[in-house]
Amino acid sequence: MIQNLQETAEYIRRKTNEYQPDFGIVLGTGLGALVHDIEVAFSLDYSDIPHFPVSTVESHSGKLIFGELGGRKVVVMQGRFHYYEGYTMEQVVFPIRVMKLLGVQKLFVSNAAGGMDPDFNTSDLMVITDHINLQPTNPLIGKNLDELGPRFPDMSEPYSEHMVQQALDVSIQHGLNVRTGVYASVPGPMLETKAEYHYIRTIGADAVGMSTVPEVIAAVHMGMPVFAVSVITDLCVPGKIKKVVLLDILEAAAKAEPNMTLLIKELIKRQD
Ligand code: HPA
Repeated sequence: MIQNLQETAEYIRRKTNEYQPDFGIVLGTGLGALVHDIEVAFSLDYSDIPHFPVSTVESHSGKLIFGELGGRKVVVMQGRFHYYEGYTMEQVVFPIRVMKLLGVQKLFVSNAAGGMDPDFNTSDLMVITDHINLQPTNPLIGKNLDELGPRFPDMSEPYSEHMVQQALDVSIQHGLNVRTGVYASVPGPMLETKAEYHYIRTIGADAVGMSTVPEVIAAVHMGMPVFAVSVITDLCVPGKIKKVVLLDILEAAAKAEPNMTLLIKELIKRQD
């Protein structure tokens, strides 16, 4: 595994002229337009990168993009890997581990999620303050990769409280109506039944989605501070639950996209 990671990092360094990104960004379902704000220096197709999994979801385009956002050097995953696609958890987090080897210091993650807080509306942004892992497994199962991090990583602050505060400052300054809350990660790919939404709400989640937590666990394992934000694409509150199709999720995500892009861009500008 370590050797594969090193080979991939080496390939990327060669193809990008040793480009040195400081920040990594993972873009979720329907949230790929942030790349329009990037001054692109290099763009690599996942399918050309050795050991990289290839995305199977049509709404994810599968590119690793290097360039500047808000004057800072970033590497962006346009399209991520989900457990429900059939990848192992190690494959799901492989790009995050490669980012670390490339010198990335902080990780920024976005996703589309169902909102369970009764005050949420569709296209709201929810800054993630904590998570509940309801996936059947996680990327740290198995022999620990001591080169990457400890056997028993601490999870008392998986999302940097400092960056949460900075995001709230940004949202006040720019008049963004940003919420905060707990994200529950489920395997999917089916959406939840009403009883499951009720259960997930009861155990303490404000939003639910099918991603993010594996990547965050891998980042925390490697000591990388994380910021994550959900775009609320559907409401999972009794009385507001409707039949949802992917198009609705993409539409709600597209509506929130400019706010999410602004939030991440301004937040990245503020990092040391
Ligand atoms: N449930 C799970 N994942 C999701 C949802 C949802 O309601 N909306 C967007 N991703």
